Amino acid sequence: MLATMGALGLAPTAEAASREPVFRAPRTGDFTLTGRGAASVVIVGGGIAGLTAAYELGKAGYDCTVLEARDRTGGRNFTVRGGDSSVDVYGNRQTARFGDGQYLNAGPARIPQWMVTLDYCRELGVPIEVFTNTNANAYLFNEKAGMTAPVRYRTAKADVYGYVSELLAKATGKGALDTELTAEDRERLLEFLRSFGDIGAELSYGGSERRGYRVDPAAAGTPGVELGSVPTASEVFASGVGRYFSFEFGYDQAMLMFQPVGGMDRIPAALTRAVGERRIQTGAVVRDITDKARGVTVTYRSDGRTRTLDADYCVAALPPNILATTAHNLGAGVQSALEACTPSSAGKIGLEYRNRWWETDHRIYGGITETDLDLAHVWYPSHGHHGRRGVIVGYYNTGAQADAYARLTPSGREARAVAQGVKIHGEKYRSELVSSFSHHWRQTPYLEASWHSLAGGPDAPVFDPLNKPTGHVYFAGDYLSYADAWQHGAFTSARRAVMALHTRVLA
Ligand code: PHE
Repeated sequence: MLATMGALGLAPTAEAASREPVFRAPRTGDFTLTGRGAASVVIVGGGIAGLTAAYELGKAGYDCTVLEARDRTGGRNFTVRGGDSSVDVYGNRQTARFGDGQYLNAGPARIPQWMVTLDYCRELGVPIEVFTNTNANAYLFNEKAGMTAPVRYRTAKADVYGYVSELLAKATGKGALDTELTAEDRERLLEFLRSFGDIGAELSYGGSERRGYRVDPAAAGTPGVELGSVPTASEVFASGVGRYFSFEFGYDQAMLMFQPVGGMDRIPAALTRAVGERRIQTGAVVRDITDKARGVTVTYRSDGRTRTLDADYCVAALPPNILATTAHNLGAGVQSALEACTPSSAGKIGLEYRNRWWETDHRIYGGITETDLDLAHVWYPSHGHHGRRGVIVGYYNTGAQADAYARLTPSGREARAVAQGVKIHGEKYRSELVSSFSHHWRQTPYLEASWHSLAGGPDAPVFDPLNKPTGHVYFAGDYLSYADAWQHGAFTSARRAVMALHTRVLA
């Protein structure tokens, strides 16, 4: 019957269903048709996992309460707009001065097509638009490799693909591959290399119009002037530009990618509305989770007072490093599993410019410039093209680079980011800047991590206690998934906890 319904468009087809093992959202009918009553659930943490648990359980009428320590929901899904402020663990206070319509997605900022994040956008009515993850016109710049000027992705690709193709063609010609390939295979390989590397009938690379033009082709009389001074193969390999090409092959980073129109926090905002504001308490700092013979008691601080909340069940959706410092009676196995989750660092700075010089002067409309500088990546906005202002992500770095920037004052971070960016983009990177806002997740209170690494993955034995309930307490979060550092991981982990809890309640 399901297959027939799938064919009629009334249910997901088997093919669509195979993308995620059997999530069936709880429904009101699950209780009304069985005569059972819905349970009460306290959800600790109002990030994507916590909100999703409340949202999905709410579909069947569970009485959910979400406790969130920060003053807003969304967790690491944080979009910074003019007027938003933050304080980091060092006490640095910032208030964003971005203009109308300008924003920085300080946390998640790109969504691959296969992730369930897009299903939630559809279900919640959050409009999406293309996020440009790779752009042939963006730059590559490896200062440590001796590059003195940035090179466009398209130019670097033409040169690397060209020389690699030439070398492989030469090896083939010299018989180096005769034991691996038949004569016919060799012909087909050469045919591929001729087009892949643009190496012509002579099978040698001497530049290509793919590198780009110094003067663009236009009307009759203007055939264009190709970029000259083709580097040698040795120079191309020494520059290290080829190291960036595999990024876009990744299952989770390949174009097309998407973003919500207006900022990533449209997702938690929609979830928050769907759950109901009255079910969510912000500024509620959980101090203790005690599992009891019949339910759970959660103790928290709010408005300077200590309060308790009793519920039938609890979904613990805090980052594991924070949960590890929260009192509980869930046992040594849970505690050592939480402590085995290693928090990572990542930071971003949003640089707001008074004009979109990257579009007008560099013809860059979205995408990412890759570097070996300590800023790592520079992102150009994928929206608002041809508008007046725009916010560039001036660094998106991780690990020691992120921590080094975090230790500076916000204005020190800006100065360092700009000094690096000028090397790639020239003086406008400094002169057109109007404001900035930097954010570092390892240094953000109540989160203190950008994401986590779990040795051996979430199914390694040490994490067993987190993948099943302890008494009435369930765990959820992107860290308990194979898509950590993605909202998809938080959504699917929350669904898994919801299914387990709901199945038990119905049993
Ligand atoms: N999801 C984050 C991002 O796309 C972090 C991440 C980076 C995760 C690269 C996996 C791979 O930036």
